[in-house]
Amino acid sequence: MNKHYLGSITELSDTQARGIEVNLKDKGHINLIILRQQDKVYAYINQCPHRDLKLEWSKDDFFDESGAFLHCSEHGALFLPTTGECIVGPCQYQSLESVSIFVENNDIFCDLEALYDEA
Ligand code: FES
Repeated sequence: MNKHYLGSITELSDTQARGIEVNLKDKGHINLIILRQQDKVYAYINQCPHRDLKLEWSKDDFFDESGAFLHCSEHGALFLPTTGECIVGPCQYQSLESVSIFVENNDIFCDLEALYDEA
Protein backbone atom coordinates (compact mmCIF):
# COMPACT_ATOMS: atom_id res chain seq x y z
CA MET A 1 0.00 0.00 0.00
CA ASN A 2 1.10 3.53 -0.75
CA LYS A 3 -0.83 5.88 1.56
CA HIS A 4 -1.71 9.23 0.03
CA TYR A 5 -3.09 12.07 2.13
CA LEU A 6 -6.27 13.65 0.73
CA GLY A 7 -7.18 16.10 3.48
CA SER A 8 -8.73 16.36 6.90
CA ILE A 9 -12.29 15.33 7.70
CA THR A 10 -12.56 18.61 9.62
CA GLU A 11 -12.27 20.55 6.32
CA LEU A 12 -15.48 18.97 5.01
CA SER A 13 -19.10 19.75 5.80
CA ASP A 14 -22.23 17.84 4.81
CA THR A 15 -22.89 20.20 1.89
CA GLN A 16 -19.37 20.99 0.70
CA ALA A 17 -17.36 18.46 -1.27
CA ARG A 18 -13.78 18.97 -2.43
CA GLY A 19 -12.15 18.22 -5.74
CA ILE A 20 -8.65 16.78 -5.49
CA GLU A 21 -6.19 16.04 -8.25
CA VAL A 22 -3.95 13.07 -7.48
CA ASN A 23 -0.72 12.67 -9.40
CA LEU A 24 -0.19 9.13 -10.72
CA LYS A 25 3.21 9.89 -12.28
CA ASP A 26 3.51 8.11 -15.64
CA LYS A 27 -0.27 7.56 -15.77
CA GLY A 28 -0.97 11.28 -15.48
CA HIS A 29 -3.41 12.36 -12.81
CA ILE A 30 -6.83 11.37 -11.57
CA ASN A 31 -9.51 13.72 -10.25
CA LEU A 32 -11.37 12.75 -7.10
CA ILE A 33 -14.37 14.12 -5.23
CA ILE A 34 -14.28 13.68 -1.47
CA LEU A 35 -17.22 14.49 0.74
CA ARG A 36 -18.57 13.92 4.19
CA GLN A 37 -22.06 12.90 5.24
CA GLN A 38 -22.34 13.02 9.01
CA ASP A 39 -19.44 10.93 10.29
CA LYS A 40 -18.65 9.04 7.09
CA VAL A 41 -16.39 10.12 4.25
CA TYR A 42 -16.92 9.12 0.62
CA ALA A 43 -14.75 9.46 -2.46
CA TYR A 44 -15.52 9.12 -6.15
CA ILE A 45 -13.70 9.50 -9.42
CA ASN A 46 -14.71 12.94 -10.69
CA GLN A 47 -16.05 11.73 -14.01
CA CYS A 48 -19.66 11.42 -15.06
CA PRO A 49 -20.60 7.85 -16.00
CA HIS A 50 -22.06 8.88 -19.34
CA ARG A 51 -19.30 11.20 -20.55
CA ASP A 52 -15.65 11.85 -19.83
CA LEU A 53 -16.47 15.10 -18.01
CA LYS A 54 -15.83 16.41 -14.52
CA LEU A 55 -18.98 17.37 -12.63
CA GLU A 56 -18.10 20.91 -11.55
CA TRP A 57 -17.74 24.17 -13.47
CA SER A 58 -16.05 26.02 -10.65
CA LYS A 59 -13.80 24.86 -7.84
CA ASP A 60 -15.52 22.54 -5.36
CA ASP A 61 -19.00 23.30 -6.77
CA PHE A 62 -20.33 19.74 -6.48
CA PHE A 63 -23.60 20.08 -4.56
CA ASP A 64 -26.88 21.31 -6.03
CA GLU A 65 -28.74 24.27 -4.52
CA SER A 66 -30.56 22.05 -2.01
CA GLY A 67 -27.25 20.78 -0.67
CA ALA A 68 -28.63 17.25 -0.78
CA PHE A 69 -27.22 15.93 -4.08
CA LEU A 70 -24.05 16.05 -6.11
CA HIS A 71 -24.82 17.50 -9.51
CA CYS A 72 -23.40 17.83 -12.97
CA SER A 73 -23.01 21.54 -13.63
CA GLU A 74 -23.54 21.09 -17.35
CA HIS A 75 -26.58 18.81 -17.48
CA GLY A 76 -28.10 19.02 -14.01
CA ALA A 77 -27.86 15.31 -13.32
CA LEU A 78 -28.23 14.53 -9.62
CA PHE A 79 -26.21 11.91 -7.73
CA LEU A 80 -26.74 10.51 -4.25
CA PRO A 81 -23.72 11.55 -2.16
CA THR A 82 -23.59 8.29 -0.20
CA THR A 83 -23.69 5.89 -3.17
CA GLY A 84 -22.82 7.99 -6.24
CA GLU A 85 -25.95 6.72 -8.00
CA CYS A 86 -27.46 9.10 -10.56
CA ILE A 87 -31.16 9.53 -9.77
CA VAL A 88 -32.03 12.14 -12.43
CA GLY A 89 -30.35 12.98 -15.72
CA PRO A 90 -28.78 11.39 -18.80
CA CYS A 91 -26.90 8.85 -16.69
CA GLN A 92 -29.86 7.83 -14.50
CA TYR A 93 -29.27 4.49 -12.70
CA GLN A 94 -25.54 4.62 -13.45
CA SER A 95 -23.10 5.59 -10.71
CA LEU A 96 -19.99 7.57 -10.08
CA GLU A 97 -17.08 5.21 -9.51
CA SER A 98 -16.34 5.00 -5.82
CA VAL A 99 -12.78 5.10 -4.51
CA SER A 100 -11.64 3.22 -1.43
CA ILE A 101 -10.44 5.58 1.29
CA PHE A 102 -9.71 5.34 4.98
CA VAL A 103 -9.59 7.79 7.85
CA GLU A 104 -6.97 7.87 10.60
CA ASN A 105 -7.23 10.50 13.33
CA ASN A 106 -9.43 12.68 11.10
CA ASP A 107 -6.97 12.45 8.19
CA ILE A 108 -8.29 10.98 4.94
CA PHE A 109 -6.09 8.73 2.81
CA CYS A 110 -6.37 6.67 -0.33
CA ASP A 111 -4.11 3.90 -1.59
CA LEU A 112 -2.11 5.27 -4.52
CA GLU A 113 -1.27 1.77 -5.77
CA ALA A 114 -4.97 0.89 -6.03
CA LEU A 115 -5.70 4.13 -7.89
CA TYR A 116 -2.74 3.51 -10.17
CA ASP A 117 -4.04 0.04 -11.00
CA GLU A 118 -7.50 1.44 -11.85
CA ALA A 119 -6.21 4.27 -14.06
S1 FES B 1 -21.66 14.82 -18.13
FE1 FES B 1 -23.08 13.29 -17.58
S2 FES B 1 -24.74 14.38 -16.72
FE2 FES B 1 -23.37 15.91 -17.33
